Amino acid sequence: MMRKRLPERGLPWPELAAALEAAKAGDYSWRRGRVAVFIYYLDEALERVQKEAYLAYFTENALGQRAFPSLAKLEREVVEMGLSLLHAPPEAGGTFTSGGSESIFLALLAARERAGRAHPNIVLAESAHLTFDRAAWYLGMAVRRIPLAAGYVADVPAMAAATDQDTIALIASAPCYPYGTIDDIPALAALAQEKGVWLHVDACVGGFLSPFLERLGHALPPWDFRVPGVTSISADLHKHGMAAKGASLLLVADDAWRAYHRFASSAWPRGPYVSYVAQGTRPGGAVAAAWAVMHSLGEEGYLRAARRILDAKARLSAGLRAVGAFEVLEPSPHAMLVFRPRDPALDAGRIAAAMDARGWLPSRMSDGRGFHLHLNPIHDQVVEEYLAHLGESLAEATAGAGEGAAPGPAY
Ligand SMILES: Cc1ncc(COP(=O)(O)O)c(C=O)c1O
Repeated sequence: MMRKRLPERGLPWPELAAALEAAKAGDYSWRRGRVAVFIYYLDEALERVQKEAYLAYFTENALGQRAFPSLAKLEREVVEMGLSLLHAPPEAGGTFTSGGSESIFLALLAARERAGRAHPNIVLAESAHLTFDRAAWYLGMAVRRIPLAAGYVADVPAMAAATDQDTIALIASAPCYPYGTIDDIPALAALAQEKGVWLHVDACVGGFLSPFLERLGHALPPWDFRVPGVTSISADLHKHGMAAKGASLLLVADDAWRAYHRFASSAWPRGPYVSYVAQGTRPGGAVAAAWAVMHSLGEEGYLRAARRILDAKARLSAGLRAVGAFEVLEPSPHAMLVFRPRDPALDAGRIAAAMDARGWLPSRMSDGRGFHLHLNPIHDQVVEEYLAHLGESLAEATAGAGEGAAPGPAY
């Protein structure tokens, strides 16, 4: 095997820049709206803010809170803006993390440490993000995934029945990724209070969109700190918060609970080491970019982003319905749109393959029939093109042309 090696001499930047650009040639084009997962994009002006702010703190290490008090202050302000947006009580607190996964890991760690059970388990709906299973695997917890109730939401009585003395946390999604639905969080919070367990609300994907959907007059089920019994919320800045990647918040209803995910030790020769997160060295740029994006957008900017998503979704949904061959699942008040061919005999894999051939990354549901779109503002530019290509792909699949594609990993 010819393993890649370091070049003997360094290469000039223009050559490297060209090589990187060329390397992207085979990627799906998110700038042309071809990717309805992974990407959150508003416009070039905001992209500039993200990049410039990140570069302004490119070298600083957010682990060094004493060395870089400016970063510590930016971080505090980002957390405070998150707490305000999510109606947290005065005693609440929060932590800036690298992403949804880290926020969830820390929430489960805190719940485990608070409960102190020998054989902990967590109870969640089957629509909850698989990060909970990943975190539970790392943290030595059993996972009880419960089938959904009607309407693609958590089955609260079934979750209650699955909760026992070893349950350390209940999980709710606001919304869940697969369907975009918000679980009955008041009911789950009441259950958590009754059982004396932690309730984590996973608003990784919704935390920075739901407040603005609400301001635009969309009645969402209650999900944030206004619901008594909500213990913690994860809300990702690098999703609808529109920040550069590497930014999320874990917010807790009582700042004192952050101690449950705090590591502090002096058991080495180099003085005390304290961290509230899983990382040691942390990119200062991610903090600065989040702070700058929040100030650049303000309420008005987030509302603009939310409006564009809703507009794209309404036009896509109407277009899909007009085609008639597709069934649009409508449970989500959020940025997700799930649809599937009405005819169960129609090979959805062929439609996916035909869309893929036209440059769209097909994100598919595990059932092999459903298609999943997670919309961001850029999609309002490509609705007509998407529908036209879907119509062509449907015609190809109906004619039995082309090879079908397996549901396939989006990751
Ligand atoms: C609902 C939900 N929770 C958690 C995550 C994990 O977040 P991350 O990929 O930032 O680690 C995601 C990612 O899409 C999500 O949608």
